[in-house]
Parts: sequence; structure tokens; C-alpha cells
Amino acid sequence: MENLIDIKGVRHAYDTAAGKLPVLDGLEVSVKEGGFCAVVGPSGCGKSTLTRLIAGLMHPDEGEVWLHGEQVKGPRSTVGMAFQNPVLLEWRTILQNVMLPLEIVPGGLKGKAAVERAESLLALVGLEGFEDKRPSELSGGMRQRASLCRALVHQPDVLILDEPFGALDAFTREDLWQTMHEVKAKEPFTAVLITHDLRESIFLGDQVVVLSGRPARTQYVMEITRDGPPKLDDLYTPEASERLATLRHQIEIAQGRAEEGVSA
Ligand SMILES: Nc1ncnc2c1ncn2[C@@H]1O[C@H](COP(=O)(O)OP(=O)(O)OP(=O)(O)O)[C@@H](O)[C@H]1O
Ligand SMILES: [Mg+2]
Repeated sequence: MENLIDIKGVRHAYDTAAGKLPVLDGLEVSVKEGGFCAVVGPSGCGKSTLTRLIAGLMHPDEGEVWLHGEQVKGPRSTVGMAFQNPVLLEWRTILQNVMLPLEIVPGGLKGKAAVERAESLLALVGLEGFEDKRPSELSGGMRQRASLCRALVHQPDVLILDEPFGALDAFTREDLWQTMHEVKAKEPFTAVLITHDLRESIFLGDQVVVLSGRPARTQYVMEITRDGPPKLDDLYTPEASERLATLRHQIEIAQGRAEEGVSA
């Protein structure tokens, strides 16, 4: 199948007061259409930078970013993004917050069609009945669900999630993982998820990319195959333990705490 996202030989350095800070150095990531790529790596290695490159919010010094067979040259409306802190606007209801991208993106749904699209997404994530509440009336998990709806409302080709579940407690996070699978089964996006949680990466991803320490290169790629619908119990199988041990070892290498070639 065709790759929807292709990141080829990307290098980038930020200009800082102390000089050039190399952040990405030989990044290679490919995600097939409809795929779910989880990206893990040490703190500060360049993961959020990678999301900005995919969204076209910045250009790499070297290398290329391709989406849908087109080189990314600027911001694209076919990308949806959700972050660790769901910045919802308090003066708008939940429904109005979810509809916001439709008011901004050219050619977005309008009127009744827009309301119906937002309502159906809110129902899909279990927020039916909360349409008219304000963000402060919702729990952190519910706000994150609303933020996911907002990222998807304009039917983006690509959904970028930068640690969206990082601030939630473990149970709420697991609920949201299941919701994420339910949403993915109904919506046709290709996903890139940045996370620090290795269990999350193997539960949600069909591919886990481990980035090296800064400047980040693609250090390791794990393909995840599942038979049947994902269940939280799958995280406690011997196969899952083995995957987690491999990824943990790769993270230790990325952090410079273990040597490459020495098995876990
Ligand atoms: N606009 C910028 N200008 C200068 N330096 C930056 C800029 N954005 C990020 N950096 C630096 O680049 C490095 C990578 O940042 P980035 O946010 O991509 O890391 P990250 O992997 O997402 O980190 P974390 O896991 O903590 O979220 C960091 O050292 C950061 O300080
Ligand atoms: Mg980050």
C-alpha cells in the first residue's frame, strides 16, 4: 500500500542564543495509509519538532517530508492535531469548541451539517449529552475526548497526537486508548502518536518508531501485528512483555544508558 507519510533523511538545527542546536539528524519515517505510527524517544530528542514538520509548520534544513505523494511546503488543513493540554475555549460550549476548525478551514462543513458532524464525533467518544457544557465543567479525560473530536471534525488525512494522554491518570488513559481504537475503526485518518508510554505505543501503534537521543535519528522500528480487536489483556501476554522489554532496551540505548548490540 502507498505510504501516506514519508519523511526522508530529515536534518534540522534550531538557531539559539548559544548557536546551532542540531535536533534531527537523518530521520526516516514512513507510515502507510490508514496506519498508526507511535513515536517514542528520550525527552527533548526532537519528537514535537517532528510533528511540526509533518504539519508543515516548519521546514527542515535538509531532507524531505511527503504527505499523500506531495512534498510539504507549508501548513496544511488536512492535518488534525491534539496535544497534552487540550486548549479549549471557555467562552464556547463543547459543541462550539469541536466545530471551531470548520469555521477556519476553507470548504469546511457549515450549518446543520457542521453540527451533525460534531455531534456524531462527540457521541462516538462517549460525550453525548455534554454538547452544551463549558470546558471547565468537564473532567480532564472528557476534555481530552473533546479535543480529539475537534482535531478530527474536518476529516483530516493525518491526525497528529503529541502526548495527548500524558496528563491523565492510568485508568482514564486506558479508557481513552480503547476509545482511540473505536474512533480509528470509524474514521479514515493516518495517525502519528508521540508518547512516553511504551504500553501505549504497542497498544495503539501498528508501528513503533524509537528515536535516538538528540540529534534524533530513526534508531529502531517495531512492526506490531494483532489478530482480532485490541484488548487491554493483550498487554499482559508473553509476546507483549517481550515487545516492551525490547523497546525499553532501545530507549536505554537512546538515552546512552545501554550499548547497541547487547540484547535486553
Ligand atoms: N523553536 C525552538 N527554538 C530553539 N530550540 C528549540 C525550539 N523548539 C525546540 N527546541 C529545542 O529542540 C530540542 C527538541 O525539542 P522538541 O520539543 O522537539 O523535543 P521533544 O522530543 O518533543 O521533547 P519532550 O519529550 O520533552 O516533549 C529541545 O532541546 C528544545 O529545547
Ligand atoms: Mg514534545
